[in-house]
Amino acid sequence: MAKHKTPLLDQLESGPWPSFVSDIKQECDSRAKNAKGVDYQIPADCPDDLLGVLEMSYVDGETHWKHGGIVGVFGYGGGVIGRYCDQPQMFPGVAHFHTVRVNQPSGLYYKTDFLRQLCDLWELRGSGLTNMHGSTGDIVLLGTTTPQLEEIFFELTHNMNNDLGGSGSNLRTPSCCLGQSRCEFACIDTQQLCYDLTNTYQDELHRPAFPYKFKFKIDGCPNGCVAAIARSDFSIIGTWRDEIRIDQKVVAAYAGGEIKPNAGAHAGRDWGKFDIQKEVVERCPSGCIRYEGGKLEINNKECVRCMHCINTMPRALRIGNDRGASILCGAKAPILDGPQMSSLLVPFIKAEEPYSEIKEVIENIWDWWMEEGKNRERLGETMKRLSFQKLLDVTNIKADARHVREPRHNPYIFWKEEEVTGGWKREIADYRKKHQK
Ligand code: HEM
Ligand code: SF4
Ligand code: SF4
Repeated sequence: MAKHKTPLLDQLESGPWPSFVSDIKQECDSRAKNAKGVDYQIPADCPDDLLGVLEMSYVDGETHWKHGGIVGVFGYGGGVIGRYCDQPQMFPGVAHFHTVRVNQPSGLYYKTDFLRQLCDLWELRGSGLTNMHGSTGDIVLLGTTTPQLEEIFFELTHNMNNDLGGSGSNLRTPSCCLGQSRCEFACIDTQQLCYDLTNTYQDELHRPAFPYKFKFKIDGCPNGCVAAIARSDFSIIGTWRDEIRIDQKVVAAYAGGEIKPNAGAHAGRDWGKFDIQKEVVERCPSGCIRYEGGKLEINNKECVRCMHCINTMPRALRIGNDRGASILCGAKAPILDGPQMSSLLVPFIKAEEPYSEIKEVIENIWDWWMEEGKNRERLGETMKRLSFQKLLDVTNIKADARHVREPRHNPYIFWKEEEVTGGWKREIADYRKKHQK
């Protein structure tokens, strides 16, 4: 028997998509029955009260969580998002409802052993509810009380060899696409790099030392399956700099209709017979592909590595062998001064262990932004305020045509004093000798 009546939420149990309401109700039932005889450390009816307060928000059209909440574990400055209900008498099960961010494995591959152990821990000390996963990547344990935080942390670290994720003005939990684990387009080992950077910068992740939050994301190629260019201050995106490898026999098989274009991605609709000219050659943004006499040629000097031809004929065209990554900086959501995607900083960098070159760029940026960034100013905004040129200076990167989509059209150009013959120090008296007032 449900603790609260939830007529509005009940409507979300119909329809084909997996219903979060049905799932939460199932957890309510499971905790009520308690078949395993668990000694629940927070109210057994916590998920019932969550549905209750959510139903109330559906009726009122407003949230019932109080502002903020500062909780955590000793040694760390982040990792837990504190939260308190603003109707604690009515919903005591969620009077405290803190969220624990748990660092996820790169690429989100799990063994059931690990997940079972985590679920046992969370059943005992939490609500039994989770988010798999937070947008940044963390495993999110959704709802527990303050006294349980150290208990959960002890068990995570001592029994599961797992750490918390990040929150606050620090390096947040890095994440990556699944990379070489099961993608032929992966130009770099995204998982290894993600794991390495996460370990290298544990201190920056657990103890806030920055003007504001900072995120790493790593895509294995420009397809951007983890959306690094839009969702990370420091975006690493795999690429190559030699030639696309072409298997002409397989090109012929595509042309002959033996292999489905885009690995069958458009099979749900009749788009007609595959036409290489129309769907590949004429779609190439650089116009650098030729298909003549059954032979496909690519002028790689003009290729911008957009992935279109490779995405369309994955069995005939493959990424080059000289691989690395591009580094782009400054992506952020709108607040304060408008949304930004990352801007190209390093066109090509090798991405091999121990990733010293990439770390040098990261640390040069941090050295600068940690000193010059204003309070709660994202890297993207610091770049806007102090200029892209400054970012180039502090990373010791030479300006390059690839740094801009187009050159400036306004003439408000700053020169460094040493670049100008005679410098800035002028006497008006000298000028007046030649020019009367
Ligand atoms: C052959 C004669 C002249 C030439 C070749 C000339 C050329 C120019 C040029 C190239 C500029 C810069 C435009 C820019 O900012 O892109 C300029 C600006 C200007 N010129 Fe002349 N000019 C001439 C005569 C004059 C005269 C006779 C006057 C005034 C009596 C004058 C007043 C100005 C003013 C006020 C500006 C600044 C406009 C602004 O920045 O808003 N010019 N001129
Ligand atoms: S970003 Fe590229 S390498 Fe990574 S999974 Fe997507 S297609 Fe594959
Ligand atoms: S990767 Fe893009 S730019 Fe390069 S040849 Fe293929 S379609 Fe053209």
